[in-house]
Amino acid sequence: MDFQLTEEQRQVRDMCRDFAAKELAPNARRWDLNHEFPRDAVKKLGELGLMGIAVPADLGGAGMDNISYALAMEEISRGCAGTGVIMSVSNSLFCDPVMKYGTDEQKKTFLAPYASGEKLGAYALTEPQSGSDAAEIKTVAVARGDEYVLDGSKNFITNGPQADTILVFAMTDKAKRHKGITAFLVPTDAKGFTRSKPDDKVGIRASGSCSLYFEGCAIPKRNRLGAEGDGFKIAMGTLDGGRIGIASQALGIARAGYELALAYAKERKAFGQPISQFQAIQFMLADMATELDAARLLVWRAAWMKDKGVRHSTESAMAKLYASEMCERVTSRGIQIHGGYGYTKEYDAERHWRDSRITEIYEGTSEIQRLVIAAGVLKD
Ligand code: CAA
Repeated sequence: MDFQLTEEQRQVRDMCRDFAAKELAPNARRWDLNHEFPRDAVKKLGELGLMGIAVPADLGGAGMDNISYALAMEEISRGCAGTGVIMSVSNSLFCDPVMKYGTDEQKKTFLAPYASGEKLGAYALTEPQSGSDAAEIKTVAVARGDEYVLDGSKNFITNGPQADTILVFAMTDKAKRHKGITAFLVPTDAKGFTRSKPDDKVGIRASGSCSLYFEGCAIPKRNRLGAEGDGFKIAMGTLDGGRIGIASQALGIARAGYELALAYAKERKAFGQPISQFQAIQFMLADMATELDAARLLVWRAAWMKDKGVRHSTESAMAKLYASEMCERVTSRGIQIHGGYGYTKEYDAERHWRDSRITEIYEGTSEIQRLVIAAGVLKD
């Protein structure tokens, strides 16, 4: 067993740390307050190869491994959590399935421009009445000549307001339940496609999410990803990778909250000494540091398994469950250490805590992660 990063992994981590310090952290509070999409920063992420990190170089990506992806996600999310999820959706939920299941023609059209950040992708599974119960989707796709015609709606779609193409899951055969779901690459300039205004969210406000509407939305048959009926497995397998991205995002948010609290504890004085000298604060910092490291080890293991090409559903769910709940605890303690100041917008402690909450919900709630883990351990 080797806990040392390779030279390439250290380089990508340091590059992302530097980029986040210079280009993301100084703007993150403004983007959050204004609900502003960081268009220029996302363009630069593309130029740095960070929108398709594990996509081979000849397909427009950076050709790196998933440990590098986890490292990059942690650093970028430490600078700005909203930017982190924009990047995670591009890498894990769009480029990864196109790379895995796409035809050569699909890869040409839907991979290179997305992995290089020229265009943006999104992933649409969730519907108003089916979030956790993903097989219950109502959006339908009917084959008609050379086309599929989509009708229905999706909601809470991250990158939805800005996406150029969206990976959409729809029912092609309702009677077959999850075996009747099919995946489609839907360009957002398709006729019959519209989207709502962006959602007004509690956290990760630099990233946009919205509802999508399909009304007689016709797309060419060549835009089907995988075979008819393969959609549910594509959706679930894709989320196994996506959960590594969100767990890494949670790591980055937690580290931002922890480092802020650590610095504040050394500087803030009470009863004649810095509060870091009190055991009550020291114990909080000790727990925060330990939990951060524990989460990182789970994340790296899941990423390592993905690189090895072995099924990692249970390990990804463990990483996502632990890292997201750790993130909420750590950022909440960060507020506690800041006392009253932590509850104001003067300090970033409250933003990190707001950003933490969604990591326990999207790409599968903590409850869903526990179901996936239980299924895994009962099978063993
Ligand atoms: N990989 C491959 N196949 C898988 C799989 C995986 N990870 N998980 C399940 N499957 C297969 C099963 O083997 C089974 O196959 P067979 O029919 O051939 O036996 C089939 O899929 C059905 O499996 P289940 O019976 O376990 O399915 P279920 O209907 O009970 O659902 C669930 C399981 C875990 C609850 C699933 O519905 C789930 O993960 N729900 C949460 C959905 C979710 O995470 N949504 C997030 C939306 S995306 C998002 O949030 C993006 C964003 O904005 C950032």
